[in-house]
Amino acid sequence: MSTRADDSSSMLSNLSTENRRFEPPAALAAAANVKADAYVAADADRLAFWAEQAGRLDWETPFTEVLDWSNPPFAKWFVGGRLNASYNCVDRHVLAGNGDKVAFHFVGEPGDTRDITYAQLKDEVSRAANALTALGVVEGDLVAIYLPMIPEAVVAMLACARIGAVHTVVFGGFSAEALASRIEDCNAKVVVTSDGGYRRGAPFALKPAVDEAIAKLGSRSPVDHVLVVRRTGQAVAFNDATDTWWHDAVDSASPSHEPTAFDAEHPLYVMYSSGTTGKPKGILHTTGGYLVGTAYTHHAVFDLKPTDVYWCTADIGWVTGHSYIVYGPLANGATQVLYEGTPDSPHQGRWWEIIQRYGVTLFYTAPTAIRTFMKWGRSIPDGFDLSSLRILGSVGEPINPEAYVWYRSVIGGDRCPVVDTWWQTETGQMMISPLPGVTAGKPGSAMKALPGIGADVVDDAGVPVPNGSGGYLVLTQPWPAMLRTLWGDDERFVSTYWEKFPHGAGRGPWYFAGDGAKKDADGDLWLLGRVDDVMNVSGHRLSTTEIESALVSHPRVAEAAVVGASDETTGQAVCAYVILRQGSDSGSSAGEDLVQELRNHVAKEIGAIAKPRQILIVPELPKTRSGKIMRRLLRDVAENRAVGDTTTLSDSGIMDLITSGAAKST
Ligand code: WT7
Repeated sequence: MSTRADDSSSMLSNLSTENRRFEPPAALAAAANVKADAYVAADADRLAFWAEQAGRLDWETPFTEVLDWSNPPFAKWFVGGRLNASYNCVDRHVLAGNGDKVAFHFVGEPGDTRDITYAQLKDEVSRAANALTALGVVEGDLVAIYLPMIPEAVVAMLACARIGAVHTVVFGGFSAEALASRIEDCNAKVVVTSDGGYRRGAPFALKPAVDEAIAKLGSRSPVDHVLVVRRTGQAVAFNDATDTWWHDAVDSASPSHEPTAFDAEHPLYVMYSSGTTGKPKGILHTTGGYLVGTAYTHHAVFDLKPTDVYWCTADIGWVTGHSYIVYGPLANGATQVLYEGTPDSPHQGRWWEIIQRYGVTLFYTAPTAIRTFMKWGRSIPDGFDLSSLRILGSVGEPINPEAYVWYRSVIGGDRCPVVDTWWQTETGQMMISPLPGVTAGKPGSAMKALPGIGADVVDDAGVPVPNGSGGYLVLTQPWPAMLRTLWGDDERFVSTYWEKFPHGAGRGPWYFAGDGAKKDADGDLWLLGRVDDVMNVSGHRLSTTEIESALVSHPRVAEAAVVGASDETTGQAVCAYVILRQGSDSGSSAGEDLVQELRNHVAKEIGAIAKPRQILIVPELPKTRSGKIMRRLLRDVAENRAVGDTTTLSDSGIMDLITSGAAKST
């Protein structure tokens, strides 16, 4: 394994002492949607298994072939089938008599609430589809969505799907720069945004970032229209040539709209995610397989019943929001909570108050949030009635056993199974996870591949490792919600994921996930974090290279190296080492002011989540003789460890300079 191996092996020894087991509650197991026989059925005939799961959807034209894998790694699922994703998520529930069922209990951060039924959602999505059509959006056009967590975000996504437009949702925390590069890369014709949103008790603005992004692109801007939702009521600059208020365009549009069916492989959305280079990857998901994969896993892993109230706390700007707020749960006709804000506004019990108020039964959040709640103390959740909960999900990064046990006991009252779900933006759907009615859970383990999914851990040569050993996580079979390519870059798609293990036992390439993993003595899987230059901060993927280029784009920076250092709350934190340009470090502001300026510069270039926790100004960076930065050593410094082996450094004195600088700055 690469440089992360050192960290992984210490983690391995911590994990191997974990031997608690939690059996599924008997009543839940007896009534579970998915039982142990699902593994048997899927193993016996994987494609027949997925064909059966496709029956969860309404197809306008049935598919004639489950999977075409004749040209790997370019997969086609449900070949010949035609369907409309928006119809499957909305209309069919109304037609089945569930129009009055609540789709969303929306909770705004300032305390405003709105219940939206499936019938109302259908009208709203239809209006928005008509409004987009009136703005000239047609099948295959790209629409960028840059919104806070408000119902209009879901409506805009479904309206795009309804007319065959491809959405690309850009997380509201991303900067104007990041938005501009995504708009340009995918050639977005329309941007849907809002004046702003609420966060930590205060309004923040979004529209100015859209204006800035478009101005920055200048004549290269592909944007014809900006559709603006009024959320906060704050003043916004309005350009009459391009800007339209949502309430003008959508509220006056007709609530009838006949959805057209599209090919199963019609693009549904592009989601940008950080890779190991500076340029984010546009991960492409298509319609049929994606909906089958998300709907099935949501049904299986959350054991969704008609009476459940499900709440996923992710932002719609990330894949978790796409797969497990919008497409999976809505395809299954779920009732959900949609919450705009942060967990500590106006008080640290806000989430528990929401669970109590709506009787949430299924809850899906990230380890970083759980660790934050642990820090705040159990007396806060203990003050609320959480007895409605029955299953607790975790996603985004490995959940450490302490956090798992705390979650299960304090939030779940020792009665709710914890499902630790491993997946990625690329996989689209959950891949490795316990089944709540089947699996005896081990704290800290995602356990094993879900029915119909093939996962293994291999060594450098691509050979599966024996139980008790670690290596690279691979996916050995194509799966319905798999990414189809990187937007406009088939070559990068092939080289990033499929070239490392080109021939899995003669059956075509295996998917390289970029994660390290271990099989325990029972063959269960423990995820160990990334093996590449990708960091995971609060469950969000950040590229070291992307932050390095942001730093180097500052006029005073000559060179930068970024590492992810372990952090108690956020999992990893961004730590940067910066060499200043010659002559520029003699000025008065080489100290704290400059560090602040550089942190803000990164926030401006990428977004606040990428802001380094720590920036050290250093005279040199540790490099090998071939010029490669030894991030392993920088991680040692950032994590306050003795610096490891420096014998391959071109100049062995450098680490002494860096460590003495680090000691001074702390
Ligand atoms: C990376 C994917 C999946 C949606 C949120 C993140 C890490 C994700 C787990 C988990 C251990 C996990 C992996 C993966 N990851 N879930 N349950 N246990 N690690 O999506 O931004 O595409 O990041 O997140 O390292 O590769 P993403």
